[in-house]
Amino acid sequence: MEWLIYLSKAAVSPASQDAASIYLTARKRNEALGLTGYLHREQGCFLQYLEGPSEGLDQLLLSLRRDWRHSDMRVLHRAPLQQRRFPGWNMEFTETPATSYAIWSGTEGNSEPLFNGPIAQASAEDLLAFIEIVRNAPPE
Ligand SMILES: Cc1cc2nc3c(=O)[nH]c(=O)nc-3n(C[C@H](O)[C@H](O)[C@H](O)COP(=O)(O)O)c2cc1C
Repeated sequence: MEWLIYLSKAAVSPASQDAASIYLTARKRNEALGLTGYLHREQGCFLQYLEGPSEGLDQLLLSLRRDWRHSDMRVLHRAPLQQRRFPGWNMEFTETPATSYAIWSGTEGNSEPLFNGPIAQASAEDLLAFIEIVRNAPPE
């Protein structure tokens, strides 16, 4: 069992048909691969948390790396896990999340775009804390 978190640049608009197709596929395939997680979108970036069997993660990564709906995928952290942190998380996604990483981390207004800035440099602990908060907060 492992967890990972990656960052990528979104190539599909929020609330588009192409974006919706991501969640539909994800729900079904993650169940088959034994993966759970959460997908966050902010400032044109996707930040996705995934956990489950290593083979499932590797298989999904292969698909993700050739998916045109995002680009410049970068795995920020990947590490072993004794048991799932968030067992009930069936790849939820919120179009209007309750908070943003920039606001939560106090780095709003940072001159670097998010992709090269605060999220990319955040520690695993910070990203996990943020993901848990944004996933569990009701949408705006
Ligand atoms: C930002 C983003 C997140 C995605 N998350 C998942 C996911 O959690 N699970 C999943 O099965 N597919 C996810 N997908 C879709 C996969 O890239 C891929 O299209 C799908 O798994 C089908 O795999 P295949 O094209 O190799 O058949 C995601 C795509 C994008 C762009």
